[in-house]
Amino acid sequence: PAAVIVAIDGPSGTGKSSTSKAVAAKLALSYLDTGAQYRAITWWMLSNGVDIQDPTAIATAAGKPAIVSGTDPAAPTITVDGQDAAGPIRTKEVTSAVSAVSAVPEVRSLITDLQRTIAGSAERGIVVEGRDIGTTVLPDADLKIFLTASPEARAARRSGELKGKEASDLAATREALIKRDAADSSRKTSPLAKADDAVEVDTTELTLEQVIECVVTLIEAKI
Ligand code: C5P
Repeated sequence: PAAVIVAIDGPSGTGKSSTSKAVAAKLALSYLDTGAQYRAITWWMLSNGVDIQDPTAIATAAGKPAIVSGTDPAAPTITVDGQDAAGPIRTKEVTSAVSAVSAVPEVRSLITDLQRTIAGSAERGIVVEGRDIGTTVLPDADLKIFLTASPEARAARRSGELKGKEASDLAATREALIKRDAADSSRKTSPLAKADDAVEVDTTELTLEQVIECVVTLIEAKI
């Protein structure tokens, strides 16, 4: 059978990563976390003294770091210039800076090319999660899913994930999350958006297992 390409988009805290990884593992497909790539380039910018308030400086530096993603859903990896970046890309500093970096067209165009190359070389197929996969990166995907959830549910999930890693109360998480989604949705180049032909799944009242089951069923109908 031909490789199946699945695009999973949506704001943060909708269970995108957990769902995408589990679905890819169940169906023996590759997996790509595109948010991790934007986080990785942001981490490099912060580590190398690039002024992230300055889009021109970001654009000039965009091509310098070499970002490599491992696509095994059981153990996804991300390196920057050969260095493991999995830990550093999840810090608060990177999370608050990433929207400014990902809004720069030069950054998007480089990362988008990288994503298309990775998706094109996945032999059995791939689950690609992000914000603009169905609209821009892979408009011909076999299946497009758009995950949503109420702001309360999303903040609660994020706080749960952060527990023990970084001190964060629910209200602060909710504010930061809403701010990042607003920035991602309002940027000029390739904003967070549901593709016209995407299936929208509201996960507010669903368990992770139910969301996984729902997406697996949708994919199986395409294979
Ligand atoms: O999914 P995650 O929260 O790790 O994404 C981090 C950031 O990367 C998003 O807030 C957004 O600014 C950017 N992003 C993007 N396009 C994608 C995936 C992520 O702009 N396809």
